[in-house]
Amino acid sequence: MADPAQISTPPAVELRKIDKSFYGVLANADVDFSLSRGEVHALLGENGAGKSTLCSVIAGLYRPDSGEMLMDGEVVDLKSPKDALAAGIGMVYQHFRLVSNLTVAENLALGNPEVGLRLSQSELEAEARELGERYDFPVDPTARIWQLSVGQQQRVEILKLLYRNVRILILDEPTAVLTPQEGQALFRAMRSLADEGRSLIFVSHKLHEVKQVSDRVTVLREGRVVGEVATADAEPRDLARMMVGKDLELPTREPNAAIGEPVLVVKDLVVADDRGLDAVDGLSLTVSAGEVVGIAGVSGNGQRELAQGIVGLMKVSGGSVELSGKDVTSTSVLRKIKRGIAYVPQNRLGMGLAPGLDTEDNLALKQFREPPYSNGPMLNQKAFKTKGAELIKGFDIRGVRPGLPIRLLSGGNLQKALIAREVTQDHCVLIARSPTRGLDVGATAVVREQILAERDRGIAVLLISEDLDELLALSDRLVVIYEGKIVGEMPASEATAERLGLLMSGHSEEQPA
Ligand SMILES: Nc1ncnc2c1ncn2[C@@H]1O[C@H](COP(=O)(O)OP(=O)(O)OP(=O)(O)O)[C@@H](O)[C@H]1O
Ligand SMILES: [Mg+2]
Repeated sequence: MADPAQISTPPAVELRKIDKSFYGVLANADVDFSLSRGEVHALLGENGAGKSTLCSVIAGLYRPDSGEMLMDGEVVDLKSPKDALAAGIGMVYQHFRLVSNLTVAENLALGNPEVGLRLSQSELEAEARELGERYDFPVDPTARIWQLSVGQQQRVEILKLLYRNVRILILDEPTAVLTPQEGQALFRAMRSLADEGRSLIFVSHKLHEVKQVSDRVTVLREGRVVGEVATADAEPRDLARMMVGKDLELPTREPNAAIGEPVLVVKDLVVADDRGLDAVDGLSLTVSAGEVVGIAGVSGNGQRELAQGIVGLMKVSGGSVELSGKDVTSTSVLRKIKRGIAYVPQNRLGMGLAPGLDTEDNLALKQFREPPYSNGPMLNQKAFKTKGAELIKGFDIRGVRPGLPIRLLSGGNLQKALIAREVTQDHCVLIARSPTRGLDVGATAVVREQILAERDRGIAVLLISEDLDELLALSDRLVVIYEGKIVGEMPASEATAERLGLLMSGHSEEQPA
């Protein structure tokens, strides 16, 4: 006989009428939300819709301005992430928080009151290994964080929370940094965690992922819940419409007939990584005016070093880089910018933008030495503001308020700001790494349109991405990088995700897999 108490089991987490505002802007407004035991609950919404804020409220990082939170039917008042962790709630943030010179095992132990005198190093490592194996999520417990790929670091973040035995696991855009294969491994782990009776919140912009891994979906728009549906009843199209309030099509590429002269010519390039190994290992590549060349590869195969080597942020130890026929191999970054390289890095806040300055200042950052922004030693504030306002409107950058540090914009809006700045300065080459990573459908469309517009204006575009959909949608020619070398090349018309995927994993085309 069914136990009546069982039937009316209260949700693991319930939010009632949650409001949270920042500087007068409602990031969450009147939000009701419930998370059941054993479910994967997806949160969807445009950039800036309030997903991370809602997650952070549940994880105890932000205190709501009003409303209440219940766990298993009891009102709780979480004052800090530490409180939340003690209550069984853990969150993996969009930006990781591991200590990079400690080992995996040491990171797991960090902040755990039970560890310390009780456990020896080898016991700790054995536990870490066992935990990884249980969820088919292996990591080397003795490795130091800086030695791990981003995907592996994320596993450590998750294992760290499982080590603390959380019942509620919040994953804020976990797949944005993963390869498709790593993503699948994560989904399997998520499923088995849910099957054990844990509850998961999953944030993603990729509707097919939401469709694959979640049981229920809540959609936010401008801080408010606009719908909650069982995943099985929701078609991706419907979800997209709920998010943006209208139908949306991503731009598709028309082949470019007007490919011009070579602009960026890379010959036998060698660039060492932070450990001194040749991460780019004798790579040659040409990008012509009006052409998008896409570089596909599993992350960590030399993409970062290739981009930074060309731009001048990393030292080139062999080979050459030519820009419009001029050798710029060892030219300074500043000179390269002047010569016409625009660069959209993967790490928006670390490298692309000045986190503490406001949006308008960031938009003028690269040109502040030149008129009209400066006149001798004086900066012209008015010129900053005018240009800023223009770009903010033109590129639909939302959430900007005067004086608000740009780091507080949502991920998608940060990316729009970075691209706006880069493409509006004089340049002949655009190098972009994963430009739509973490962007919502609408922002992705804006960025893709910009990249295609660049190409149509005759800019040579080098697109480095782990997202095959993106590469296939934008590139005129595709090149696959593996262990620092080009292992395959094809025109867009001959490229398929399958063919690229095989090359990316190190299978050559001659010997069938
Ligand atoms: N600490 C903060 N200070 C000021 N404003 C903030 C802060 N955190 C978020 N916001 C603002 O609140 C709104 C909601 O942001 P949030 O980060 O929750 O969005 P999101 O849905 O997670 O977006 P994304 O998909 O880009 O990650 C945005 O307008 C953002 O600029
Ligand atoms: Mg977010």
